[in-house]
Amino acid sequence: MKWTIAVLPGDGVGPEVTKLAVDVLDSTAKIFNHELNTDYYDIGWSAYKNHGNPLPQETLEGCKSADAVLLGAVGDPRGDELPPELRPERGLLALRKKLGCFANIRPSRLLPCLAKASPLTLETVENTDLVIVRELAGGIYYGEPTGITESGDTAFDTMKYHRDEIVRITRVAFDIAMNRKKKVVSVDKANVLSSSRLWRNTVNEIALEYPEIECSHMFVDRAAMELVMNPQGFDVLLTSNLFGDILSDEAAAVVGSIGLLASASLNEDGGGIFEPVHGSAPDIAGSGSANPLAAILSAAMLVRQTYSLETEASLIEDSVEAVLEAGLRTPDLDRRGPTVGTETIGSAVSHHILQQTL
Ligand code: IPM
Ligand code: MG
Repeated sequence: MKWTIAVLPGDGVGPEVTKLAVDVLDSTAKIFNHELNTDYYDIGWSAYKNHGNPLPQETLEGCKSADAVLLGAVGDPRGDELPPELRPERGLLALRKKLGCFANIRPSRLLPCLAKASPLTLETVENTDLVIVRELAGGIYYGEPTGITESGDTAFDTMKYHRDEIVRITRVAFDIAMNRKKKVVSVDKANVLSSSRLWRNTVNEIALEYPEIECSHMFVDRAAMELVMNPQGFDVLLTSNLFGDILSDEAAAVVGSIGLLASASLNEDGGGIFEPVHGSAPDIAGSGSANPLAAILSAAMLVRQTYSLETEASLIEDSVEAVLEAGLRTPDLDRRGPTVGTETIGSAVSHHILQQTL
């Protein structure tokens, strides 16, 4: 099979982790006789620097014509000085919107060999295996009006949802739950927010179409607490753009490190952007210590989702697990060490893949 992938390394640690993820795709393609074609494009701060725009037209066109997009990270402290429409993050938000990526899937599973990396006790975190389904194309991230008054002393953002936006993300969450433990917890703030009340009512309506699914609702503050007290209790968490952003970083920490969390941002056709949940981490960029496993696991999601190649995707995931089981750790996974760098752990995954005899 021919794979045509648009690669957007982005900013900070993005290029470092993306390189290892592409190496892993390359090794996987080799082993299974696929042809890998990668086209590189700028996004975020690097795109602003080179083209004066965080999402250049060329990047957007390149992403549209590829089978899928593999993205590193966006964000740079120098972007803080820019007007809102030129900030690096705007490049990513515009790309998600323009590609119609409304469903962000963020799985969090505790690997037994990483139990010690979690800040929680083994008893609490054991068997944690959940998926956050985050609405990605609406809510307060995109609501109008937004801005700051002329006097500069008042600023506002609008949290807005249309029923149709809630319907489509709810169906994604329920469909995922059908292949799992059939439990959906929808997270909102319906005791305070109108948009959350519409969210809750709409989820209840769709739940009627899925009688096998056990559907319940939880306020976001309670969900934040439950995630650290009883993460095993969750199967699928369905939530809005902002709440999903916050809870997915928390879920990452629960299972060890945000350096491990992969995600898929999907459109109506099931295509999309595959990106680690972590950001550009400017503090460690260039130090060679970033964890590339989230980017590598995002590449595995890409292969499974875009090409329906389960064996290839599983081999990548199993190889990640194998190098962790062999004891390799980047600093985010072990504060006391000894640890290895980005290249070492990433190339160990590629090496493991290439050793397979099919
Ligand atoms: C994420 C990130 C982004 C988001 C930022 C970089 C715009 O935090 O993917 O979780 O808020 O969606
Ligand atoms: Mg985030």
